[in-house]
Amino acid sequence: MKIIIAIAYLLSSVLFILGLMSLCSPKTARRGNLLAMIAMLIAIVATLINNEIVDFTFIIIGLIIGSTIGVTAARKVSMTAMPQMVALFNGLGGGSSAFVALAEYYRLTGGLKFNVSISMIISLFVGAVTLTGSLIAFGKLQGIIKSAPVVFKAQRFLNLLIFTLFLIAGIIFIINPANNAYLLAILAIAMILGILLVIPIGGADMPVVISLLNSCSGLAAAATGFVLSNNILIICGALVGASGVILTRIMCNAMNRSIPNIIFGAVGATSKNINKDDNRKVITYTEEDASMILEIAQTVIVIPGYGLAVAQAQFALQELVKTLIDMGINVRYAIHPVAGRMPGHMNVLLAEANVSYDLLSDLGDINNDFQNTDVALVVGANDVVNPSARADKNSPLYGMPILNADKAKTVIICKRSLSPGFSGVDNELFYQKKTMMVFGDAKDSINNLIKLLKT
Ligand code: TAP
Repeated sequence: MKIIIAIAYLLSSVLFILGLMSLCSPKTARRGNLLAMIAMLIAIVATLINNEIVDFTFIIIGLIIGSTIGVTAARKVSMTAMPQMVALFNGLGGGSSAFVALAEYYRLTGGLKFNVSISMIISLFVGAVTLTGSLIAFGKLQGIIKSAPVVFKAQRFLNLLIFTLFLIAGIIFIINPANNAYLLAILAIAMILGILLVIPIGGADMPVVISLLNSCSGLAAAATGFVLSNNILIICGALVGASGVILTRIMCNAMNRSIPNIIFGAVGATSKNINKDDNRKVITYTEEDASMILEIAQTVIVIPGYGLAVAQAQFALQELVKTLIDMGINVRYAIHPVAGRMPGHMNVLLAEANVSYDLLSDLGDINNDFQNTDVALVVGANDVVNPSARADKNSPLYGMPILNADKAKTVIICKRSLSPGFSGVDNELFYQKKTMMVFGDAKDSINNLIKLLKT
């Protein structure tokens, strides 16, 4: 039986890796999900045929409850609420790893080996931090708790003190593993630290935090795998841990921010001064003006941003693009890696409206084409097209790669006002001569444009 389980685990690991590879592109992402689902099924079945299981009652009860919650959540949760759902699932994953490791402590009688003690401490600590940290992230995104950063005096000192207490408790537990009080102390300390580490982070930075916590949940699972000597848990945990770190790095690079800046920067605690130069003029255009420019264009690049999600204008935008294509205009979408508020936000939104993947281009692939483009149509995006990221060394956005909308012959921007985006930074693009500001809710503006183009 052991050899069958080992082969099943190996097959499952290979499928997980292939699944992850397929998730790298929107075109193959569905296949990636399917491969990962098959891998998970094989891993669960192989674990269940393990002859160490003496009673299936609790396993069946758990499966029924878990599957019911999973299916309901997947069906009912809206696309915009995905980040908080992922946060909740990450947290529960981390918590499960911690509690399985704790249960294993009580199951194992006699002295623990050094490597098992270390793995147990890591699993308990990282898993519990992930649990409470993710619950705070969920609460902030769901609006249950204040999403603004919560900062107070000596916060970092307190965190350092608590971490030192964890180290002391860990060392004592390794010396004397028979005393369970230290293991329970580690669990309590980690739960408090999880809360304290996430409360100073603003709601808008939560996607990065969730990705980091996702990585932590993988690390906790891998550590639990060492406690249980379970290879699939070690491999999957390592895969989740590594992919979470890679995703976090991609997001940080795309925002030109470091992980410490996100965790300790308390971005959003105070509003930034917006440089308002009174001599600058904004030219307001109507949808009629914009439709006339679109009608004579040969090439259009659409730049979707967070406002598209807020307005739920993805279906209208898809129809507008179809109308323009039917008119013989070459239209593509430019996708910035951090447009919106979660990784792949724009991809998910446009996929919901059945936009063909062939029309989507990443920043690196499309950025040189703006200079030969007639119209850059910016829908609810702001920071990702802010030229201050290129030129203004004092801008918080400085160094963030942006979409070169300002290089197009004409820029049409659909948003409700001159309000800044997530970064709170004023956008010089709104005041440029080539820019046509079309104020209004993105969905209304796009629907009006469709009507005008069709008449
Ligand atoms: P933002 O810079 O946040 O700008 C969004 C714009 O949408 C706002 O200026 C807002 O202007 C407009 N808007 C809101 N509701 C609208 C509506 N109903 N109709 C039309 N417009 C509407 O968005 P972006 O360009 O997508 O950039 C994303 C930002 O979020 C970046 O700074 C990025 O670093 C940050 N961020 C991203 C992520 C990920 S993973 N994607 C994670 C954390 C942070 P009005 O109020 O004037 O309409």
